[in-house]
Amino acid sequence: MKYYKYFRKTSIKDKEVGRLFLEEIQKKNPKTFLEIGIFHGVTARNICNLMYKNHGSEFKYIGIDIFEEGDGVKNEVAPSFKFNNPLKTFYFKYLKRQNPYTAEGVKDLLSKYEKNIQIIQGNTNEILKDLNLKDIDYIFVDGGHDYKTVKNDLAYSKKFLSSNGVIICDDYNLSYAPGVKKAIDEFISENKCKHEIILERFAKIEF
Ligand SMILES: C[S@@+](CC[C@H](N)C(=O)[O-])C[C@H]1O[C@@H](n2cnc3c(N)ncnc32)[C@H](O)[C@@H]1O
Repeated sequence: MKYYKYFRKTSIKDKEVGRLFLEEIQKKNPKTFLEIGIFHGVTARNICNLMYKNHGSEFKYIGIDIFEEGDGVKNEVAPSFKFNNPLKTFYFKYLKRQNPYTAEGVKDLLSKYEKNIQIIQGNTNEILKDLNLKDIDYIFVDGGHDYKTVKNDLAYSKKFLSSNGVIICDDYNLSYAPGVKKAIDEFISENKCKHEIILERFAKIEF
């Protein structure tokens, strides 16, 4: 199971980590997947590939992202939006004429699966309460890294999850975003759920 980068940015920079991440998802063989924090859609595309391989067109991917740069999201410790590779900047700016960090850019990368995807733009602190999501098999929490955002994302993820569902969180032990670990640890202890730290970065939570 290869993790492809599609000439974009992703928080899973190491392809071997990506492969192991996909292997972890595969264990549960989800049919419905929610990703909080889509960014350029690289993990989204890899997850769709995996679900397509397992279930043909019988799968659903839902992704949520604020798609916003600047001071409004500075507490969320978002990754850098600029490419380090000038070729990528050139490709998106002049050839594709597209910003990969937009709902349109992500939908373009996921166009092969257009019937199976739902891309929602918004701040999870504001929109999750109005979303009627249920029976999601797998949720990847990788959105805002502010303590209160992770608390909120986890609380709603629990409501959205199917009975045997799994939540996996990225950046459990990030020194410059300690709120992530604090929120996850509190959630685990409040809900008395099974958990495992994988590759010293992913927190897998099961009920
Ligand atoms: C680490 S990146 C996600 C990386 C992506 N999961 C991947 O594997 O490539 C975090 C994303 O969360 C989004 N984000 C940050 N705060 C958010 C919020 N409050 N609501 C929704 N999305 C948010 C950012 O725009 C960014 O795209």
